[in-house]
Amino acid sequence: MPSHHTPLHAAAAEVVAAYAGIPATELKVEATPRPELGDFAIGCFAIAKATQRNPAQVAQEIAAAFKPTALLDSATAAGPFVNFRANRAATFTWLVDAALRGTLLPRVGEGQTVCIDYSSPNVSKHLAYHHIRSTMIGHSLAQSHRALGFRVIGINHLGDWGTTHGMLIAAYKMWGAPEPLTVDALNDLYVRFREAMKTDASLEDTGRAWFKKLEDGDPEARSLWERFREISLAEYNAIYERLGIEFDEIRGESAYEADLPRVMKELTDRGLVVESEGALVVHLPDEKTPILLQKRDGATLYATRDVATAEYRWNTYHPARSLYVVDRGQALHFRQLFKLLAMMGYAWSSVCQHVPFGLVRIGGKKTGTRTGNVVLLKEVIGEAEARVRALIAETNPDLPADVLDRVAPMVGTGAVVFANLAPQREKDVDFEWEKVVAMQGDSGPYLQYSYARCASIARKANEPITSTSGIDFGKLAHDAEWAVARKLLEFPDVVVRSAEACEPHVIAHYLLDLAGEFSRWYTAGNGDASLRVLTEDAPTRRARLALVAAVQSTMREGLSLLGMAAPDQM
Ligand code: ARG
Repeated sequence: MPSHHTPLHAAAAEVVAAYAGIPATELKVEATPRPELGDFAIGCFAIAKATQRNPAQVAQEIAAAFKPTALLDSATAAGPFVNFRANRAATFTWLVDAALRGTLLPRVGEGQTVCIDYSSPNVSKHLAYHHIRSTMIGHSLAQSHRALGFRVIGINHLGDWGTTHGMLIAAYKMWGAPEPLTVDALNDLYVRFREAMKTDASLEDTGRAWFKKLEDGDPEARSLWERFREISLAEYNAIYERLGIEFDEIRGESAYEADLPRVMKELTDRGLVVESEGALVVHLPDEKTPILLQKRDGATLYATRDVATAEYRWNTYHPARSLYVVDRGQALHFRQLFKLLAMMGYAWSSVCQHVPFGLVRIGGKKTGTRTGNVVLLKEVIGEAEARVRALIAETNPDLPADVLDRVAPMVGTGAVVFANLAPQREKDVDFEWEKVVAMQGDSGPYLQYSYARCASIARKANEPITSTSGIDFGKLAHDAEWAVARKLLEFPDVVVRSAEACEPHVIAHYLLDLAGEFSRWYTAGNGDASLRVLTEDAPTRRARLALVAAVQSTMREGLSLLGMAAPDQM
C-alpha cells in the first residue's frame, strides 16, 4: 500500500480520493516523466473498474472538477491519468523548509526495530576486501533505517567459536608466538597449520583437542583465545572508525555456546532431529541437503549457533525485520536456517531475511581468502587516499595543505565506499582504480565534489540561509530550477524504497541524478548571466541560495546514508 511521502503527493491523492470516495492511501502517485506533462500523475484504472466506467472519462471528470489548492495549481486529464501541476513557489517553500530542518524524510519506521547483522568477520583472520562489502552495505542499511525513524540494532556477529580456534591455539603452541602478534600473523599461523594438516593427519585431532579444552574452560586455551580475539577486534575497530561505524551489539558465536544444549533439546523434543552417519541433522521441506547441527564428534556448528542467535535477537529486540548482510555464498545456509526456525513453530521466522551480495573483482581477479587473492581493505583505502590526494592537488592547486590533509581521507574512503554501493547489491563489483577515484562520472569523488561546490557557493555568498522567512520563491522561474526541485521531491520515496529493498544503490543513483540536475542548473548560469546564483538582484539571489541550501543539505544527508563524509571543500 503506497503512502505519500511529501505533502504534494498526499494533496494529489486527496483530490482523487475525495472524488472517488476511497481512502487516499489506496492511490499510487507517480512523478510524471517530463514537467510539460505536469508533476504528479494518478491512474484512474481501479476507480473506473469499481464503477464500471471508462478510466479516461473518470480522469476527465476529476480534472474538470478540480479546484486549485495551496500546493496544486491545476489538473488535466491525459488518457486514463490525471496529471497535477504543483504550485512552484509553495513547493520550493516546503522543500527548503524541510531540508533546512532535516525533516524531508518520513518517519515510517517509528516504533519499530530492525536488527542488522553485518560485517561479522572471523576472528584471527584478515578483514579482507571481499568481506568488507557486508560492512559497507550493512552500514548504509543501518543509516537509512535510522533516518526513517526505525530503532536500529547493528550487530557484529563475530566468528569467534569453532574448531578453527582450536587449530589456531595448537599452531601457536607448536610454532611459538609470532612477533608482533597481529591479525596478519595469526592469519599466517592458521594457513600454515592447514598446510601442515595435509601431510600430518594427527594435527586435526590436536586442533580438535584444543578446541575441546577451550569449550571446557581450560585457563590456558581460554586466555589465548581471548588474546587473539582482542587483537583482532582492535584491528577491525580501526577500520570501523575510519568508516564511521559503531555497532550496537558486538556479540560473537561464542556467546551462544551455553544455549546450544537447550537448542538441541528443543529440536529433539519436537522430533525434528535425525541421525545421519553419526551426525545430527534436520530434513527441511523442499531442500535436498539437510541442515547439519552436530558433528559426529559431538561438536555443534555454525548453523546451531545461528538458531540460538536468532532466538536471542527475537527475544531481546522483537524486530520488525532481522537482516543478515552476508555474501551470497551463504544463501543455502540462511534458507535452511529460516526454514528450520519455521519448523520450530516460530512465526517470527518470517521477519528474518538474508541480504546477499555479489563479490568484488580487482583487476579482473576475484578477491577472497580462498582464491589466494587477499586484498586488505586498509590497503585499498590507503591507496585510494593517495590517488585522490594527487588528483585534488592537481585540479585544485590552491587548496591549502591542511585542508587537503583533512579532505583526502574523506574522499579516498568515500571513493571506495561508493564503488561498493553503486552497483546493484547482487551484482559483482568490478573495481577499476581510474573509475573509482575519478572526479567525473559515476564516482564517489564526483558526488562529494558536488557537495563541496554547494558549500563553496554558500561560503562565497556569505549570507547564510537559515529559514524560508522573507524569501520570495516566485523568483525561481526557470525550468532548470524547477528540475532541481522535482529531483529533491523524489528523495523521501527513494530512501523508503532503498531501505525496503535493502538496496543502497537506489540512493547512490539518486544522488548522481541530483548532482546532475544541480550541475545543469548551475552551469546554465555560465552561458546565461540571468541564471547565475550569485546575481545582483538580491531577492532572486536569496531564493537561489535557498535552493542551493536545500540541495546541499539533501546531498549531505544522502551521503551520510551511504556512509560517506561531506567535505566542504576539495
Ligand atoms: N562470520 C561469518 C563469515 O565470515 C559471517 C556471519 C554472518 N552472520 C550470521 N549470523 N551467520 O562467514
